Amino acid sequence: MSKQFPSPPIGKILSKSHLFLKDDISFYQHFLETYGDLVFLHIGDFEMLLVNDPGFIQQVLKTNYTNYSKPKSLRELEPLLKDGIFFLEEEAWRKEVSILKPAFHQTMIAQNEFVVKEELKNTFEFLDNLCQQKRPAELSSLLRNLFLTILIRTQCSPSASIDQKRMIELLTLMLDGVRPIQFYSRVVRRELNSFLKTEFFSDPFPAAAQEIEDMMMNLFYKAESGTIEPTGILFILLQAYKDGRINLTTVKGEMRNLVFAGMDTVADGMTWFMNNLMIYPAIQSTCREEVYRVATDDILAYSQIDKFVYFYASFRESLRLNPSVWAFHRMTLADDTWDGYEIHKGVWIFISPFFLHRNKKYWEDALTFKPERFIGSNIVNTYHYIPFGQGPHYCLGSRIAQLQIMQITGSLLKRYEFLKSAKSKDKFYAGGMMHPSHGLFADLKQISR
Ligand code: HEM
Repeated sequence: MSKQFPSPPIGKILSKSHLFLKDDISFYQHFLETYGDLVFLHIGDFEMLLVNDPGFIQQVLKTNYTNYSKPKSLRELEPLLKDGIFFLEEEAWRKEVSILKPAFHQTMIAQNEFVVKEELKNTFEFLDNLCQQKRPAELSSLLRNLFLTILIRTQCSPSASIDQKRMIELLTLMLDGVRPIQFYSRVVRRELNSFLKTEFFSDPFPAAAQEIEDMMMNLFYKAESGTIEPTGILFILLQAYKDGRINLTTVKGEMRNLVFAGMDTVADGMTWFMNNLMIYPAIQSTCREEVYRVATDDILAYSQIDKFVYFYASFRESLRLNPSVWAFHRMTLADDTWDGYEIHKGVWIFISPFFLHRNKKYWEDALTFKPERFIGSNIVNTYHYIPFGQGPHYCLGSRIAQLQIMQITGSLLKRYEFLKSAKSKDKFYAGGMMHPSHGLFADLKQISR
């Protein structure tokens, strides 16, 4: 006799659907708090297992990962992700990882460090001006712009540029648009179209993904014709395309996947880090002291990042409480068993770093910001802490993301004190990523030492 997952009756699920209007977090939180760490939600044909148990997460992400498809769970984002690493299965995915990996190698990362330093100088200029005018800085959009520029210049070409405003609009449309509430409104629109045999209620995703592809492929063609010098992923893709290891369809897929994977993840990760440093000014100043001890120059170097203890622990703690990728999914391909439970084919598996990292069973004082938990002998269990995922699909960009966030945050801490502005509201939006809904405003004070 197999164990049964706790499963609220449909009436109970529907009675909480208003929480979706507020935010998805409140909806899932209600069921995890009421029914435990494994909750089966059954709504019509749709079956979802909410998973907040590290043992089961290990089964899905590592032990039996081939039975839990990532591409099939990302189908809403297919126009953006098809033909790239996030959407490839099995052999094709393995081949693609081996092609892309050199772009994440230490030497390639180091080669483009100068770009981050240049962009930091521009950011200093912008923030110095705000300081002089005594105006608050809106960090959330500043960081999205900064990390998009850095992504394009380090992964495509140092001389490359794109229409940043438009790219951010398109990515926001798609990433914020994956919330279930918006997903269902698109399903209804599609159904109405097919019922009325019209295209009146258009789905904005395919057009947005096409525009993203056009913007990114423009850079690829420039690199191919020698107008720009390729670097990072663009360099790797161009080589592989010229040798015939990949075709143009894969190049297009990877160029779309790149902006999906590498912009909001990093920008939101750093936005939450800055937010936490402002909520806890004593921690901000301890981090600053360590930055002053380790680095003499205005701008930190990658080679200094591994010397940080408290500052790095603070960053890890921020990723614990506020992981930018707050949830990801899998689709069960065939029946499976785990710890006496049976999981059948076709079930969506909902894994949330956000809930796991706040689970009181695995984290003492789970809701308190305590960098110390990542220092010294406090070894963190791999399956209790998954801001970059776990197992074979572990984030390829995690090292780059951590180096850049630490370098930029550390350099900013040397120059400014950050105080949360009265203009900031504590509301967040949890779509594809989690970010503040109305920006994050900071009052800045220049530091003179
Ligand atoms: C703080 C920043 C970042 C966070 C929190 C983050 C988080 C994640 C997570 C949670 C996954 C696993 C998803 C899953 O298993 O379904 C992932 C995968 C991935 N990430 Fe990141 N990421 C970050 C930055 C980046 C950057 C900068 C890049 C590239 C430039 C990148 C490239 C990738 C790729 C290619 C994968 C897919 C790996 C695979 O399926 O084999 N990430 N990331």
